[in-house]
Amino acid sequence: MRKSFTFLATALLAGLMFNTSAQAAKTYQVGTDAAYAPFESQNEKKEIVGFDIEVLKAIAAKGGFQVKFINTPWEGIFASLNNGDRDIVISAVTITPERKQTMDFSEPYFEAKQLIAVNNSSKINKLADLKGKKIGVQTGTTGDEAAQKLLGKTSPNIKRFESTPLAIQELQSGGVDAVIADNGVVVNFIANNGKGKLRTIDDASFAKEYYGIAVKKGNKALLEQINKGLAAIKADGTYDKIYKQYFGK
Ligand code: ARG
Repeated sequence: MRKSFTFLATALLAGLMFNTSAQAAKTYQVGTDAAYAPFESQNEKKEIVGFDIEVLKAIAAKGGFQVKFINTPWEGIFASLNNGDRDIVISAVTITPERKQTMDFSEPYFEAKQLIAVNNSSKINKLADLKGKKIGVQTGTTGDEAAQKLLGKTSPNIKRFESTPLAIQELQSGGVDAVIADNGVVVNFIANNGKGKLRTIDDASFAKEYYGIAVKKGNKALLEQINKGLAAIKADGTYDKIYKQYFGK
């Protein structure tokens, strides 16, 4: 009698432990457009690396969940939350009122703004100088929105590209007069591929933007886990350490 009770109790306990550890080990599929260094890019080994990756990995470690990063084209990246292909999107995504209608965002984890890139020899010095000029943007980004605001939604002078590096390459080859994109990515690109050839213009009219981690609208449980983890890595210095590693002070 006693023996079978012990057996039962042990079995129950083991089952319980297995269950919680199975829960803890839940793996979330994370979409990221890995052509956006230093936030997300692929290294020589085709591994997805970057600031966003480190941040989400640290959040996951706090929350006891696992993350699998999947390189996902920017176009369609938000739809992948709705159709269930991805559980989380971290991709230097700016939190905007429109986007908030179709997905839920974590607390902000990074402050950014738009920056204009031009060739060194260019006469362009401010946003207004881009009127009548060809502007390269990554389709559907906040840079695209900025260009639309200046030139009009349907302007043929907005040249849209699948990725931001492609837009900047077009600038270097003379196909567009300027590129509008997130400051961190423009600065990083110029440092690595355009030193002395490209320069940046910071226009006062560009508003501050905040990056958020996105989940499917209504996925409260996951959002809470992410927000808790984010608060924890901000509180214990992990976030600052990652920030320093990528952006200096
Ligand atoms: N922050 C900008 C936006 O949300 C650009 C983000 C693009 N991210 C990327 N990984 N390509 O529109």
